[in-house]
Amino acid sequence: MTTATFLSSADLIALEDQYGAHNYHPLPVVLARGQGVHLWDVEGRRYFDFLSAYSAVNQGHCHPRIIAALTEQAQRLTLTSRAFHNDVLGRYEQFITEFFGFDRVLPMNTGVEGGETALKLCRKWAYEVKGVPANQAKIVFASRNFWGRTLAAISSSTDPGSRRNFGPYMPGFEIIDYDDLSALEQALQDPHVAGFMLEPIQGEAGVVVPQPGYLRQAYQLCRAKNVLFIADEVQTGIGRTGKLLACEHEGVKPDILILGKALSGGVYPVSAVLARHEIMLTLRPGEHGSTFGGNPLACEVALAALAVVRDERLPENAERMGQVFRARMAHLVAKTDLLTLVRGKGLLNALVVNDGPDSHTAWNLCLQLMQNGLLAKPTHGNIIRFAPPLVITEEQMHECCDIIERTVLGFKG
Ligand SMILES: Cc1ncc(COP(=O)(O)O)c(C=O)c1O
Repeated sequence: MTTATFLSSADLIALEDQYGAHNYHPLPVVLARGQGVHLWDVEGRRYFDFLSAYSAVNQGHCHPRIIAALTEQAQRLTLTSRAFHNDVLGRYEQFITEFFGFDRVLPMNTGVEGGETALKLCRKWAYEVKGVPANQAKIVFASRNFWGRTLAAISSSTDPGSRRNFGPYMPGFEIIDYDDLSALEQALQDPHVAGFMLEPIQGEAGVVVPQPGYLRQAYQLCRAKNVLFIADEVQTGIGRTGKLLACEHEGVKPDILILGKALSGGVYPVSAVLARHEIMLTLRPGEHGSTFGGNPLACEVALAALAVVRDERLPENAERMGQVFRARMAHLVAKTDLLTLVRGKGLLNALVVNDGPDSHTAWNLCLQLMQNGLLAKPTHGNIIRFAPPLVITEEQMHECCDIIERTVLGFKG
């Protein structure tokens, strides 16, 4: 096969099918190019992206400022490891801690590594500061959480598909219902509880928004028991929900904050854990790390990605465009029996399909949306998440709402 051979979408899907692991079930579209809110497939068809790579591409595909930072730094220095210092890390650490208002940052690569890092930090703090007896620390999670696929992440999961035949699981984890303050109060009676980790809005569970006041009161309960409130803002953070962080909707400043995805604008895997001195300084040299974490390429990319969020006022745009989207969708829900509700905050939204969780309606709707030029994906069975890049304009948003409306009203099942 020469490089000049044109491979169609069908050819490329067949290659993945033959040579790749079958650990994903993608929509049958093969993408070759992206710019802003748009993606193009190998045949040149254009789509609106309403997934944004699970909220990693908040700044839009191939944002010129982020790509310039990437390509300039890539020609100078990419990786030194943390065996040596590099000339970008310190500047990046200063910038990101000031940007989010924390004392210190620990740079990692993927979101799940951010979660692992936060849990290790929490356990270390429990033994060395809080005074929990050795190996007794407990961490509380909410049911239907999602923070990745490592053994620790699936150990805290309630999704049978994530857990089945991957045991044994990590000890020291307790799972309570999401959005249930009395369950949290009960769990916190145990003096060995070190932390409570949660998503301010549950993304993969289907954009589940807790009751107003839940986050604030959960934070206060943790505080009263000297338990660390660990916010997983890998999906909700960096402007997605209409604020820089979703916790800001309730005036909560987490003890440990986990960021990933949009920290690089989807250009490169960059994640980060932020915390106060007292927590972060429990880690000493050799106790945690990563070959790629804090590399100069990642740091330059993240500096540019955060500057774009600030300079283009993306949280504000997410808030405004989210209002437009939900108003249009509420109108649509009222017109059809196919949908039961729209929910979300900012530009993290979902439509709930009026069908059982095991039905194929949401998937079939996504196939039709794809044919009509808009890419979205079901989360849990009958829920479709809609999360476009935060750079979307009002005109584009209306065009997309027209596509969704046309698809839903013309849907034959
Ligand atoms: C809330 C949340 N945390 C963590 C992760 C894991 O991120 P990654 O896939 O980069 O490891 C995800 C991924 O979807 C997520 O939604």
